[in-house]
Amino acid sequence: MASSRAEAALIAAPAPVESEKLAAEISSLDIQEEKDQKMAPHRSHDPHHNQKRSDPFQFGSRFLNQEDDVFEFNAWDHVETDDAYKEYAEQQFAMQRQSPVSDFDKQRFNSDPAKSWDAFYKNNTANFFKNRKWLQQEFPVLHKITREDAGAITLLEIGAGAGNTAFPILANNENPALKLHALDYSKQAVEVMRSHADYDTNFMQADVWDVAGDSLPPGLEEGSVDVAIMVFIFSALSPAEWKKAVNNVHRLLKPGGEVCFRDYGRGDLAQVRFRKQRYLDENFYLRGDGTRVYFFDKDELAAIWSGNNIEGSKESNEEDTPSFVVEDLGVDRRLLINRARRLKMYRCWLQGRFRKK
Ligand SMILES: C[S@@+](CC[C@H](N)C(=O)[O-])C[C@H]1O[C@@H](n2cnc3c(N)ncnc32)[C@H](O)[C@@H]1O
Repeated sequence: MASSRAEAALIAAPAPVESEKLAAEISSLDIQEEKDQKMAPHRSHDPHHNQKRSDPFQFGSRFLNQEDDVFEFNAWDHVETDDAYKEYAEQQFAMQRQSPVSDFDKQRFNSDPAKSWDAFYKNNTANFFKNRKWLQQEFPVLHKITREDAGAITLLEIGAGAGNTAFPILANNENPALKLHALDYSKQAVEVMRSHADYDTNFMQADVWDVAGDSLPPGLEEGSVDVAIMVFIFSALSPAEWKKAVNNVHRLLKPGGEVCFRDYGRGDLAQVRFRKQRYLDENFYLRGDGTRVYFFDKDELAAIWSGNNIEGSKESNEEDTPSFVVEDLGVDRRLLINRARRLKMYRCWLQGRFRKK
């Protein structure tokens, strides 16, 4: 939001030339997040057809059984990668490490990463990311705080981009005392949100803010936020920025306040298919448009948010170490099928909540 010779990934280990062909085919695939997919209603994620949707970590009921034709549907849930894919992924990782991003480009793209996102939002319409309407389903607290009688609530979205999370939340909001701060360090993204037809300053305030910077966002004080949403933003930070970001979120939240989190998981197709000159560091890549992306391991993510194992945290004193309780951190694995090209794509995301002690 994945295998080299996908088919390999998907079928058997191919001969080298065949692998190259498959890698090319895979890298040309459109794997935009959360695409609309037509499927049989009884197997869709539509809550009317799916009893399990009340559980935030049950993403659906399309379990792949031995007798199933994998190409019958566009997506299957909870599918573990097979040996061919794992082998393919390891080969790709070795290839990526051997051909990293040049030092010149590392310096160029790491020195002002917001610039690449500005260019991204100039070049893409606000509809680039599909509206994330599913969030309220996945994070029940978002439903709770938007009820009519929820009272005064400060909701923060960090890395809000074009507002594809913020606007659907406001569209469903019944709470007259909800204030949503939508923050992004790309001026262009903030501009896109502010010029949206549904931008209503009674309920929403979009501002430029760097989560890994030194200041707090405009109009927000320490300990003033009830809930923070971070969807596909933490992966845009370099590992050196994690600690500062976690600290800033910790400062902003009220005690007991929580972070609703979703991001890329290790081994996702988007990681595996990176080709030469995209590797910045382990699990950290430069996309063709200059934006950066990291792929997390579940234990690593839990350690980052619980205050253990953050780079540099050992040197700092205990009081500086943010302290979150990790709740419901899960791995969402999905096998997406390109039926026309008969390709299998293994996707992997991490989703969970981090509560300030
Ligand atoms: C992959 S996009 C996701 C956008 C949005 N959350 C969504 O899911 O539609 C990542 C966003 O994070 C923003 N971002 C990256 N690093 C940031 C930082 N240090 N502080 C604030 N925003 C940041 C980018 O500008 C971009 O809008």
